[in-house]
Order: sequence, then structure tokens, then C-alpha cells
Amino acid sequence: MSKDTLTVTDNRTGKTYELPIEHGTVRAMDLRQIKTGADDFGLMAYDPAFMNTASTKSSITFIDGDKGILEYRGYPIDELAEHASFLEVSYLLLFGELPNRSQLHEFQHAITHHTMVHENIREFIDAFRYDAHPMGILVSTVGALSTFYPDAKNLDDAEVRRLQMNRLIAKMPTLAAYAYRHRRGLPIIYPDNDLSYSGNFLNMLFKMTETKYTPNPVIEKALDVLFILHADHEQNCSTSAMRGVGSSRVDPFSATAAACAALYGPLHGGANEAAIRMLNEIGSVRNIPDYIRRAKAGEVRLMGFGHRVYKNYDPRAKVIKKLAYQVFDQVGKNPLIDIAVELEKIALEDDYFVQRKLYPNVDFYSGLIYQSMGLPMDIFPVLFAIGRTPGWLAQWEEMINDNEQKIARPRQIYLGEGRRPFVPLSDR
Ligand code: ACO
Repeated sequence: MSKDTLTVTDNRTGKTYELPIEHGTVRAMDLRQIKTGADDFGLMAYDPAFMNTASTKSSITFIDGDKGILEYRGYPIDELAEHASFLEVSYLLLFGELPNRSQLHEFQHAITHHTMVHENIREFIDAFRYDAHPMGILVSTVGALSTFYPDAKNLDDAEVRRLQMNRLIAKMPTLAAYAYRHRRGLPIIYPDNDLSYSGNFLNMLFKMTETKYTPNPVIEKALDVLFILHADHEQNCSTSAMRGVGSSRVDPFSATAAACAALYGPLHGGANEAAIRMLNEIGSVRNIPDYIRRAKAGEVRLMGFGHRVYKNYDPRAKVIKKLAYQVFDQVGKNPLIDIAVELEKIALEDDYFVQRKLYPNVDFYSGLIYQSMGLPMDIFPVLFAIGRTPGWLAQWEEMINDNEQKIARPRQIYLGEGRRPFVPLSDR
């Protein structure tokens, strides 16, 4: 008769243990009872980089990496990208259900009316060097917001938490646009409440001397879709940073700054920037075979390729590839697209990539769209951060309300020196 348990025999002692299996997992803490003697600490699980460890139960995002499925709260990503707005998706992630008309109206109103930031933040940004990376500015300014909202420390009050979540979703585009304008030496543009979330972001990025900025509706929609595609991705590096740092019960602005810092890395949110640099370096379709050879030799990586979870085509990359051509129809074709498409084709036919199940990920084509919109490469991860903010916050809120969660604190296997007496400087 089948039983939801795992029977383990410890060959050191000959003892047998029966561990419960729940949702296809065993609890690492159940291993602790497996000891060789009374003073043995007990068995631990060793899992560098969390390759096979669930850190939480979650009801937000479902991924089947082998089948290439991504769903937010049960809704397939391609349907959300086609039919919903980014704010509807943000609401869905935060509250578990799609909003009805009045809920959406109220949410949109709350977000729109929190887009301004304190003028001191503007002055703070002015203090950065003229060529400061916008992601560095974002990490610092998101963290700095915590000093403007000391009430955010009150994590036990659901209303207070909701206010900070609205503030964060609302202010990320403002901080991002300020960082961009600083880099360009342009005066900052204040938010325009008449525009949509994405339309207003374009306004804050690109408005020049015109009295009213009117976003191109195709670009506005494309940006909104890109935000949706980036909105959550379960327990990825930056979300784990959000949860891990947030588990110390720090305020959500500080936890989001940590998540942004994690996203900055080239193996995570920095990959879209790295993908464009790579396509520029390849330079021409005829140089692709040599680049593929170098990737196979381990000299370079194909940036925007491969994923810890997807061992199939990233469903977001499919939507983005289509979106890229819609944007190119408006603003002209990005010449790097031909290199990207050919690189993808050759890689997908090559044994090295086939065997390792390396497919284009969300970052392979997103940079091409951003570049065609006139955005410089170093702001790409900032755009990712704007899109990911509701996901980080939904995961943070879930963690705060999860009675099983405590401060995140992994164990280690100590392999260093045994105890030894201190040697004075004169004897070394
Ligand atoms: N190009 C060439 N080879 C690769 C690539 C790549 N992009 N990615 C993985 N490989 C190879 C590795 O060399 C390794 O080969 P080996 O078994 O012969 O040693 C094998 O595939 C497995 O790679 P790992 O690094 O073990 O896979 P992991 O799951 O740890 O890494 C990651 C996933 C970081 C995304 C990796 O594929 C990568 O570096 N990709 C490029 C960066 C990138 O696009 N990051 C964005 C990820 S999506 C996101 O954050 C939104």
C-alpha cells in the first residue's frame, strides 16, 4: 500500500526513520533526528545555490520549467500580457484575484497619487556623478525612501503595509526616470496624473519642451506588457533577497533596495544589458559561428540564454519576440534583431545547447525593444526592477503573513581550521 512517507536507513547506526512527504517534499528539519549519538547535531541537507530546496509555500506564481509554463495566481502569462494592464496584474499578484472595475479604479487612483517623491530625493540624485549607473542610483534611492516613511517599520499593520506597497509601485518609475534624466543631464519631469502607469513613465523619461507629453500608444502598450512579463517569477535571486532581507523585519523600502541590488547582477536582471553588449560584440551574422564556438569552449556565455528553472523556451521570451516586431513597426527595425534571431536559430540546433536545454530567456529580446525605444543599455535592469516590484511586494506580504517563516538563516558545513592558540604578531 502506498504511503506519503520516506523511509531512510542510516547506515552509520543501522537505524531506520520514516519521514512524512508533503507536496513532494520532505522537511529538512525532519532530518535532524537522524543522529549517530546524543552529542551529534543531527543530519542537515547541503544545497548550495538552493538547487533543490523549497524555502516557502507560495500561492502566487506557478512555473513548470520543463513545459515552459508561467502562471500568476493561475492565469497564464500570455493571456495576462494580451488582455490585462500592468496595474491589473499588480493587483492580481498582491491580492490574489483580478480586480473588478471599482477595485481597479481605486487601485489606479492610489498608485497615481503616490508617484511624487520628496524633493530631497531629487537633490540626493543630483549628488551622483554624471555617469552614475541608474541601477546604482535606484538601489540607493529606494533604500533612502525608508528614511522618509518611518511608519513603514510597522509591519504588523496591514493598512500600513498596503500604503508602502502602493508607494513603492508608484514611486519606482519616478526614481527610474529621475536616474535616467540625471544621466542625460536633463531636467527632471514630474509625474502626469492624466496618463497611464506606463504612459506617465514615458512622459517622465522623454518629455522635452512640449507642454503636454502624449505617449505613442503602441510603445506605451509594449512597455506595459514588458512590465507584466517581469512582474513575478517565484523564488528567483532578487525575490529570495526580498524575502530573506525582509525576514529580519526591516521596512519594505530597505528590503526592496536589497532585491534591486540582487537584480543588478549580470546573471539576473543585468542579463538584458549584457545580451545587447554581446550582440554588439558579435557585430554581424557571419561572426555568430565563432561566438557559438567560444560559448561552447566556456570562454563566454550566451547572455539571455539558459535559465535555472526553464528547460524549455521561456514563455515570456515568446511574447517578447512578437512584441519586438510591433515596436519595430513604429520606430524602425533594430539592426541587432537579425543577429539575435540567427544566434537563436543556430544555438537551438546545436547539440551543446540542446543537451543542456539552453533556450532564450526573457532577457534575450527585451533589451532590443528597450534600445529601439531610445533607452540606453544601463537603464534596462531598472525597467526590470519596475516590473518586478509588485511581485517582490506580493512575496514579501506572503512571507510576513506566513506563520512558518522566521528570520532566514541558513546553516553551513564548517571545514576550516580546528581550534588553535593565538600567535602574537612578533612570532608570525
Ligand atoms: N551560454 C553557454 N553555456 C551556458 C549558458 C549560456 N548562457 N548557460 C548555462 N550554460 C552551460 C554551463 O556552462 C553548464 O555547462 P556544463 O554542464 O558543461 O558545465 C550548463 O550549461 C549548466 O549551466 P549552469 O551555470 O550550471 O546553470 P544555472 O542553472 O546555474 O544557471 C543561468 C542559469 C545563470 C541563467 C545561466 O544559464 C546563465 O549564466 N545564463 C546567461 C545569463 C542570463 O541570461 N541570465 C538571465 C537569467 S533570466 C533572469 O534572471 C530574468
